[in-house]
Amino acid sequence: MIAYLRAAGASLVLDARGPYPPVVLHWGGDLGDLTEAELTDLADAAVPPVPPSAVDQPLRLTLLPTPGQGWTGRPGIAGHWAGRPVDDLRLHTVGRTGPRDLVIECGCAAGGLRVSTDVSLSEQGVLRLRHQVRNIAEVDLHLAAADVVLPVPERAEEVLDFTGLWANERRPQRSRLRDGTWTRSTRHGRPGHDDPYLMVAGTAGFGFRHGQVWAVHLAWSGDKQLYAERQATGQSLLGAGELLAPGELILPPDGTYTTPWTVAAFSADGLDGLSARLHGWIRARRPLPGPRPVVLNTWEAVYFDHDLDRLTRLVDAAAQVGVERFVLDDGWFTGRVDDRRALGDWSVDPRRWPAGLGPLIDRVRARRMDFGLWVEPEMVSPDSDLARAHPDWLLGPTHAPTWRHQRVLDLDNPDAYRYLRERLGALLEAYPIAYLKWDHNRDLLAATGAHRQTTALYRLLADLRVAHPDLEIESCASGGGRIDLGIGELVDRFWTSDTNDPLDRQRILRWTSVLMPLEYLGGHLGAGTAHVTGRATDLSFRLATALFGHAGIEWDLTTATDAERADVAEWVAAYRRLRPLLHTGTLVRTDSPDPARQLYGVVAADRRTGVYALVALDAARSALPVPLRLPGLDPQRRYRVSPLRIGPVPATLQVRPPAWLQRGEATLPGRVLAEVGLPAPLLHPQQAALFTAEAVG
Ligand code: DGJ
Repeated sequence: MIAYLRAAGASLVLDARGPYPPVVLHWGGDLGDLTEAELTDLADAAVPPVPPSAVDQPLRLTLLPTPGQGWTGRPGIAGHWAGRPVDDLRLHTVGRTGPRDLVIECGCAAGGLRVSTDVSLSEQGVLRLRHQVRNIAEVDLHLAAADVVLPVPERAEEVLDFTGLWANERRPQRSRLRDGTWTRSTRHGRPGHDDPYLMVAGTAGFGFRHGQVWAVHLAWSGDKQLYAERQATGQSLLGAGELLAPGELILPPDGTYTTPWTVAAFSADGLDGLSARLHGWIRARRPLPGPRPVVLNTWEAVYFDHDLDRLTRLVDAAAQVGVERFVLDDGWFTGRVDDRRALGDWSVDPRRWPAGLGPLIDRVRARRMDFGLWVEPEMVSPDSDLARAHPDWLLGPTHAPTWRHQRVLDLDNPDAYRYLRERLGALLEAYPIAYLKWDHNRDLLAATGAHRQTTALYRLLADLRVAHPDLEIESCASGGGRIDLGIGELVDRFWTSDTNDPLDRQRILRWTSVLMPLEYLGGHLGAGTAHVTGRATDLSFRLATALFGHAGIEWDLTTATDAERADVAEWVAAYRRLRPLLHTGTLVRTDSPDPARQLYGVVAADRRTGVYALVALDAARSALPVPLRLPGLDPQRRYRVSPLRIGPVPATLQVRPPAWLQRGEATLPGRVLAEVGLPAPLLHPQQAALFTAEAVG
């Protein structure tokens, strides 16, 4: 059988005629209508020559490559039964389970193993694959790897992936794909701040709006590897799979292991095309529960200083500017006066909260906000009643170093799991909690256990969601250390980074949003001097930056001046007005020839409106800045472009603004705005100017 899956300009052609697992003949753009005979012609024509000094049959990359097929690159599946290796996989059957969904059954020729592979192409052209491995031998199967691999064409010469640090997540790195394997592994027991996030291969010089790109992401929150490989034969591929520690996955007879989904996408229009597909699919898969409320989070406002009077003043200040959700961060539970103790003792601290959280929550709700609470359930402080009572519930060696003075609770231990489930359930029963900020502030650092821990975490989150269907959850891991589509099935928001410095946030958001839609990405308005970097920035820049995302505030508003509070209130109102556009529209970004200037925006699905931000990260490269070329609009329609003023006016350098800005607007066709653009204002470094484009007529 030759399978041809097509959707939204993307397609996949699989040659599943055996004897080996199917061969991907094409993953990329749509090939148009093809008859079965034409597909067979394509498959026959695609058989490569046999070069000298090679196996005596055409060498094909299959969906499960192994040495027995002649493949000397990284095997897609590896393991052994008491020394007998997994190899020689053969195709058994291919079935269709939906219009663009296949299930492929393979097995080892010598028996012992069945692999069932799900392949599905979504309506948005997002491809998903996963394997289910079943041990049908009578002895244990030690599984070392079960990866998804997809070929990319030889013109995919450049690779983009990500690295990073705390408060500096999603740093892009680009390289040329050479012979060999470029592997990015994470062994944090969570994706980590240096999470590769996406492995993208593309044509030379690909950018946000140009070039062909192919990308894979692993929907998994534990250890993993993403890789790009090019063989000396000229075959290139992208791969993704869970990183299994030695001995971590031993399948008993009849045991099964299901890999995480690999989510893959192709775009003929650069990274923006990837984002459009991925965002469309993420949005359709599980719509978020309603408009994303403006949040006030107490962390940088009060840290551990939990005092009802102080927090009540903050509640009132939040309500005054229009905040919709008040989140009490770390510091509310028994003995938690700093970050050195008490994790695990999940009951309200009677000393600082003698009447419980009720009085605060009542005030929050009386001010028409809902209430959110911070928790870090997977962790335990050695200095806690929990650790003292149950030292055996801790994961990893006893003398392993602590991290932020904490250890990890073994969620795979049924007693520990039950304890947590009960404690969280009790809190959710006792108080009207609309939202949990679910934090995770250390790596696991256990030689094995990431698989079981991650699986148990998903179970716990799913349990809570079933019991509390209206509960929203945010995934936080010292900022953006756990942003992936695995936990993404179970949470409604990600805390993007611990830095609220707008300059950092501009870069982090630009890259995190390649995969995740803006409405998932928490971005907060911080204090005038950022706590994490010590950098001072203008309110106008902070407001413009925090507009794009799931907006919130993390600033002690009680210290803000009346004028500042009025500006924040104006911003909140603008966010509420714009969020239907920001959270459903298409994200567009440009590749600026001047790295100090960024232009991006969101265009409505019907392309009648758009909102854009021009951001000056640093001093401009030229006296006359690069023009504002507005991408994403309908080339045929005319648009009125005008500045969007929210709060204070951004500082500019110009002696005289561009003529169109003096007039206050310009009206031009979309194709002219995209090709020629408009002269940009001369912004001070660390300033942003916002614009709207409205279709006229
Ligand atoms: C790390 C988070 O990223 C912060 O936002 C804050 O919640 C602290 N933990 C609290 O300990």
